[in-house]
Amino acid sequence: MLKVLLIAGARPNFMKIAPIYAEMKRRPREFAPRIVHTGQHYDAAMSDQFFDDLGIPRPDISLGVGSASHAVQTAKIMTEFEPVLLEQKPDWVVVVGDVNSTIACALVCSKLGVKVAHVEAGLRSRDRTMPEEVNRILTDAISDLLLTTSQDADENLKEEGVAPEKIRFVGNVMIDSLKEHLKAAERSDARERLGLGGEYGVVTLHRPSNVDDKVTLSGILGALGSVSERLPIIFPVHPRTRKNIDEFRLNDLIERSNIRLTDPLGYIDFLRVYSGAKLVLTDSGGLQEETTVLGIPCLTLRHNTERPVTIEMGTNVLVGTDPEKIKTAAWDALNSSIKNASIPPLWDGRAAGRVCDELKK
Ligand code: UD1
Repeated sequence: MLKVLLIAGARPNFMKIAPIYAEMKRRPREFAPRIVHTGQHYDAAMSDQFFDDLGIPRPDISLGVGSASHAVQTAKIMTEFEPVLLEQKPDWVVVVGDVNSTIACALVCSKLGVKVAHVEAGLRSRDRTMPEEVNRILTDAISDLLLTTSQDADENLKEEGVAPEKIRFVGNVMIDSLKEHLKAAERSDARERLGLGGEYGVVTLHRPSNVDDKVTLSGILGALGSVSERLPIIFPVHPRTRKNIDEFRLNDLIERSNIRLTDPLGYIDFLRVYSGAKLVLTDSGGLQEETTVLGIPCLTLRHNTERPVTIEMGTNVLVGTDPEKIKTAAWDALNSSIKNASIPPLWDGRAAGRVCDELKK
């Protein structure tokens, strides 16, 4: 039996570990999984709600690290995780995605000679000013098993000199969670609670490059305000973004528009909300993939994406952050019929099974 530690730290990790944990629990003769929560995200709305919605039990081990600068947060996760690793002696540690918890735990494993598998390996935006890009490159460089969501990721890794036998194309575990919870989302009353009757758009923004600079953030919000005159917008706000809207005094800009801010939504409520949207505008990574699977037009307010398959095959359009370009892209999306999209290979709801099979091998 394989003893496995699954690492979860920030909101976008939870929907990736949930199906892997569930699959391991279905195969008790093969796997003994334990969940380690680093505490990178800690608010109920950013963490506990997701454990409840996704049916993940409370973490077996909580490191309680919390927010800090990149260096302090990463270092704290490492110092808290090292004794856990020495004590638990797992056969495998599984890290997911590209957050600080991902690289911090992978690095501890690498130094102690514990095998680490990276789920969602090989994605590259080729923009090293993005903290996540650095986390991705470094995590992949030290992981023993690189489990990829799309074939472009395999190519990226090979170009970086990774031995092909370390790379396994398993598909997208996040889509396992999406498919698993679509029915539950239909029962959510989130649309009614938020007064979303007719057509509406959904916005999420949290990238430091978009929300930490006043000029960029006010430009984006101004463009979204114009879009909202035609399509009312619901905007569940990430804590980082909320803080900056207040600090930059941009609340007026929003109040004058047809954009409605809400607190961050849980997994099920948010799925209910974006699955009914006419248009999604976002700088999230995961939402580019989720909208592709649901066939919802998505405008990505970034200059690059590590998920090109969502553009080539899916509903995603890379727009950037120029206010005029955002407006033009929104009008185009609202005026034209839906892009002829298809679902990328192995985004079939069964990726967690393949992750487990590869760990066994
Ligand atoms: C982190 C990830 C990012 C991911 C995002 C999803 C890194 C480098 N970044 O960014 O890749 O897309 O999570 O949300 O790992 N805060 C709270 N409550 C919380 C958590 C954070 O109020 O539960 C506030 C704190 O003021 C904190 C700020 O949000 O300083 C930013 O949090 P942090 O985890 O540092 O980065 P994110 O922007 O959330």
